[in-house]
Amino acid sequence: MDKFRIKGGKALRGTVAISGAKNSALPAMAAALLTAEPVALHNVPKVRDLITMAKLLACMSATVSVTDLPSSDYVIEAKTLNHAVAPYELVKTMRASILTLGPAVARAGVAHVSLPGGCAIGARPVDLHLKALEQMGAEIATEHGYIEARARRGRLKGAHIVFERITVTGTENILMAATLAEGETILENAAREPEVTDLVALLRKMGAQIEGDGTSTLRIRGVEKLHGAEHTVIPDRIEAGTFLVAGAITGGDLTIKNCAPEHLGAVIAKLEQAGVPMETVNKTTLRVRGAKKLVGSYMTTEEFPGFATDMQAQYMALATQAEGTSAITETIFENRYLHASEMVRMGANISVDGRKAVVRGPARLSGTTVQASDLRASAGLVLAGLVASGETIIERVYHIDRGYEGIVEKLRAVGADIERVHAPSEYAA
Ligand code: EPU
Repeated sequence: MDKFRIKGGKALRGTVAISGAKNSALPAMAAALLTAEPVALHNVPKVRDLITMAKLLACMSATVSVTDLPSSDYVIEAKTLNHAVAPYELVKTMRASILTLGPAVARAGVAHVSLPGGCAIGARPVDLHLKALEQMGAEIATEHGYIEARARRGRLKGAHIVFERITVTGTENILMAATLAEGETILENAAREPEVTDLVALLRKMGAQIEGDGTSTLRIRGVEKLHGAEHTVIPDRIEAGTFLVAGAITGGDLTIKNCAPEHLGAVIAKLEQAGVPMETVNKTTLRVRGAKKLVGSYMTTEEFPGFATDMQAQYMALATQAEGTSAITETIFENRYLHASEMVRMGANISVDGRKAVVRGPARLSGTTVQASDLRASAGLVLAGLVASGETIIERVYHIDRGYEGIVEKLRAVGADIERVHAPSEYAA
């Protein structure tokens, strides 16, 4: 398993280009199952989760071709979709595989998707996805670890769905299913994340009739057929936020280009509150500099437009360097503080009590060997490593490879002392 070796203490300076959003590219790829015509996607980041999604779509009989330069372009063509099965071998490595369920049952009338198992950051059930599909006339059965969704009389029907809680992939799944359902579907308490809005933009290009994007009520009038389309995925707001924190805590001066500042409002506000000088250079570029003094504050994770849970670990890394007390509340996932104990091993003063974490700073972090537990926790540990004295080794970085394109290369290009160590498997002969 690969590791990262970081020698901390370098101020990061220069320009970083942000890649396409993983969490936008995932539903966009799944949406290609809704039509027999090719869907071309640009700005798809080169990360493991999208390779997994490509394999999954291939398993479900779609043809996926990838051209490599300048950034990944995917063309997905699902000419036929008769027996759509998403197998456990792929689903177990990526929970977002559930995104194939809605489009597959809407198009083929029946779909089998393995039930995603547990997850390091929380139980993450898919009950709200299934309940909504049932409301649309699907019969749901779970047997031998697989969800079988079957549309009565072969086609889903429009329904009025009120989500009990906001779910991002749940909204995306049902939105996709509704585009081919008979009649009108109304989704209330829908997620308003930019990735949902980006999916609406793609679906509309494919011929879907949707109103209300960007709000918590989506209205979809089902059509008989969708057609092919071409779409450019939005920039990854979490990657951009991670680099903003990197510039801020290393006392550097980073220009973050190809990003969407309008998706980063809550992150920018929190960084400014912590004393970080920020500047919106233009519609796609931000500049961040190191604070003279970072100050602790409170932060609560929320659905968009609130502060994203996917930036919580990175904010915690920043809080270790801030003067005073930072109080963090995680409201989205029940177990998303696994990075805290690793940061404590590096010298941070953090106490966790359920969904609340209190960080007292500034702490002098010192390098040691730490374990990455999930994608965003890994990003938090990389940031901590960038300010720690001496050498930090981060193990299990396959987590970070799931969602950050070329993070080592991007950090090195702006002056970080970081390298990937290719470790041979302990079990290799
Ligand atoms: N939930 C349920 N039942 C459901 C669905 C969700 O109880 O049927 C709960 C979840 O357990 C969680 C909350 O609702 O407590 C919100 O979960 P949500 O469904 O919104 O999360 P998700 O759609 O599975 C997406 C992102 C995550 C991101 C969350 C929250 C993708 C592919 N994943 O997950 O991204 O943290 O929304 O914003 O879009 C990541 O990129 O590292 C990542 C984990």
